[in-house]
Amino acid sequence: MKIAVLASGRGSNLRVILEQAAAGRLKAQVCLALSNNPEAGALKHAAEFGVPTWAHKPSEFSGAQSSRAAFDAAMLAAIKDAGAEAVVLAGYMRLLTPEFLREAPGPVLNIHPSLLPSFIGLHGGKDAVDYSVRISGCTVHLVTEELDGGPIIIQAACPLQAGESEDDLMGRVHALEHRIYPQAIQWLAEGRLKVEGRAVRLLPAPGKPIKPAPAPAFAHLISPALEDF
Ligand code: GRF
Repeated sequence: MKIAVLASGRGSNLRVILEQAAAGRLKAQVCLALSNNPEAGALKHAAEFGVPTWAHKPSEFSGAQSSRAAFDAAMLAAIKDAGAEAVVLAGYMRLLTPEFLREAPGPVLNIHPSLLPSFIGLHGGKDAVDYSVRISGCTVHLVTEELDGGPIIIQAACPLQAGESEDDLMGRVHALEHRIYPQAIQWLAEGRLKVEGRAVRLLPAPGKPIKPAPAPAFAHLISPALEDF
């Protein structure tokens, strides 16, 4: 499966996707990395792995359409030209237009640094710390027009101790993100994600029963259970 990855920042999730694909564990090829921030660290990871990049500032776009619509239309054209079959958001810090979502050449996935539906928006990790939750985590979900509101594919949870900082929590959350995102993309590549309303059902791999999620006796709770990562 060819995927286009959109990233605005340091790109640790993109890097893990590239590493897992290069190792042959993740059966996906990043055919294009796109960014609204030409300085994004993500672009350097893409270049290191020989992946073509598309990076433009939204301010370069204007005209009859609003600049947001023009920017998204240009991204979409590049994504289609690259032959992508799915779009993966990896720290992409801009809302996508409804037109982009409608015309994307396949599902659009996002990873969010909280247990949705808690703490939607740009600062999910910080908001969880400020709220003093005791368990937080991360979520991979399908992107719909509703902000951080699409059907959930996989979540992973981790504890937060009193007095711990946002950095403490985000260190743990990122480690979990780097495991669940390649897994979710692999399930998508295998055609094993069936959307039923709000629910995403994980279809069994041929000849392989679904592993039950582990009993909640562990510090990390991941559901569905990881299979490969
Ligand atoms: C991650 O925490 C992700 O959940 C959020 O943006 C961050 C991106 O991190 N959407 P990185 O750029 O992949 O390191």
